[in-house]
Amino acid sequence: MLEIKGIENLDNKERLDYMLDFGKATIKTEKDMIAMMANISSIIFNVVEDLNWAGFYLVREDELVLGPFQGLPACTRLADEGVCVSAWKNKKVMRIENVHDFKGHVACDSESNSELVLPIKIKGEVIGVLDLDSPNIGRFTELEEEKFKELVKAMEKELNK
Ligand code: SME
Repeated sequence: MLEIKGIENLDNKERLDYMLDFGKATIKTEKDMIAMMANISSIIFNVVEDLNWAGFYLVREDELVLGPFQGLPACTRLADEGVCVSAWKNKKVMRIENVHDFKGHVACDSESNSELVLPIKIKGEVIGVLDLDSPNIGRFTELEEEKFKELVKAMEKELNK
């Protein structure tokens, strides 16, 4: 059974490591992409501090459509601009210190101040993105980027099988 426990006294780095270990173990138990993404968004949201949204957008033809997530209801379709679309179109991780300085940022939740978006690739093509939002400016550092990159790599490996 999946159970998150003993995290109350962990600091940020320890929580990131817990999220990564728990996430990797969970990924190995389920190959269905939606089921996997649903549990991963829950693990991230419940383990990593200071997030107001954690979830996935999936590439559907020429736009991104909302996938499994945790947090408040969000925009269902993203097509022309924004941090998620940039990560998808440029196949690049987007780590944004202050979303209000990002031209074209799509504000689904006015609480969000910083954002980290990672493309998920299968056979070289981006099939979706992992999107994390925080009410704190500069919440995502190189450390967060490194840990979430490792998580996405584990997802890609499983989905590529
Ligand atoms: N801020 C994102 C939109 C998605 S929400 O944050 C959940 C963007 O600019 O693409």
